[in-house]
Amino acid sequence: MKAAVIYQKGENLQYANVAEPVPKTENELLITVTAAAIKHFDKSVASGKHYSGTDKTIARIIGGDGVGVLTDGTRVFALGGGMIAEKALVEKDRVVLLPAGIDDVTAAALPNAVAGSAMALRFRAGIQQGETVLINGATGFTGRVAVQIAKHYGAKKVIATGRNTQSLEELLQLGADEIIYTLQEDEQFITAIKQVHTITPIDVIIDYLWGHTAELILASLKGNGAFTHKTRFVSVGSVTGDKLQLSAENLRSVDLLLTGSGLGSWSKEEMHLLFAEILPEMFQLAAKSKIKVDTEVVALKDIETLWQMNVPNGRRLVVKI
Ligand SMILES: NC(=O)c1ccc[n+]([C@@H]2O[C@H](COP(=O)([O-])OP(=O)(O)OC[C@H]3O[C@@H](n4cnc5c(N)ncnc54)[C@H](OP(=O)(O)O)[C@@H]3O)[C@@H](O)[C@H]2O)c1
Repeated sequence: MKAAVIYQKGENLQYANVAEPVPKTENELLITVTAAAIKHFDKSVASGKHYSGTDKTIARIIGGDGVGVLTDGTRVFALGGGMIAEKALVEKDRVVLLPAGIDDVTAAALPNAVAGSAMALRFRAGIQQGETVLINGATGFTGRVAVQIAKHYGAKKVIATGRNTQSLEELLQLGADEIIYTLQEDEQFITAIKQVHTITPIDVIIDYLWGHTAELILASLKGNGAFTHKTRFVSVGSVTGDKLQLSAENLRSVDLLLTGSGLGSWSKEEMHLLFAEILPEMFQLAAKSKIKVDTEVVALKDIETLWQMNVPNGRRLVVKI
């Protein structure tokens, strides 16, 4: 069968012929893959740099999840390994049935962003109806989904930040109530966040950027010795850097919960709920166009040249197989 393979860490990805996988245990299912998205996770694993250490088995077929058909004809989304391939093995409890009304490409694109938004909002932030949510880096694929899911979970106000003005304005159509441009002077950006926080205190911050903008947002929460509003800050991504400087005085001056959401932070029960409840619900919403995503489709045969393609404006690259 054809597959996207990296044979040695650091080498280019190849469109290669490999043997079809064969299930070895009752827990493993064979899936004929029809679509698989390329996410930061896949690029990071392929480069051997993902923090989860999911990079041990080089040579490997790329692709951490995808959509396809099981041997009994059921159409599913599945989390697995080596899914940018004509066939793959997936575990029974990492499979979600797809409803009619959602196409394979959309179903392949959505789940990583659901994990990167719903899991953070629901389990790490514990979002409540009527709360105010700020999404830092909202113009990316996951941020766009986060805006929509925050609203679905009952956020009264969603504030979206980003550097791309056109994408930011599009977020107003997807449910954002306010947009803040990140590429203004630091003091102006801090003032803009402080103004929002004074009028509608921010309950939850979902952060996809980390680095300098996260530093500025944390600085803008700094109190002055009086009681402050409790804010839960959840780090989900680090597009603009893995490190930041945080003043201890800043941290002591505010009622702040600082946490992260990703592989390793979720409990077994939360992971179970992702497959049993959260993804099925989000697929239903997408099937009814209540969650909207934009994709860029490429063919498996073009994977060698296109897999590192930069896809702008919050779209996700999806390989059709
Ligand atoms: N922990 C999890 O469960 C989980 C799940 C999904 C994703 N993630 C992580 O979340 C992050 C975002 O993922 P994604 O899928 O949304 O990626 P994406 O679609 O590639 O979006 C990246 C976003 O970062 C923005 N950006 C890049 N440099 C910037 C800068 N200097 N200032 C402001 N914005 C900047 C881009 O803005 P432009 O539109 O202007 O280019 C784009 O909106 C990644 O780090 C990813 O690994 C984590």
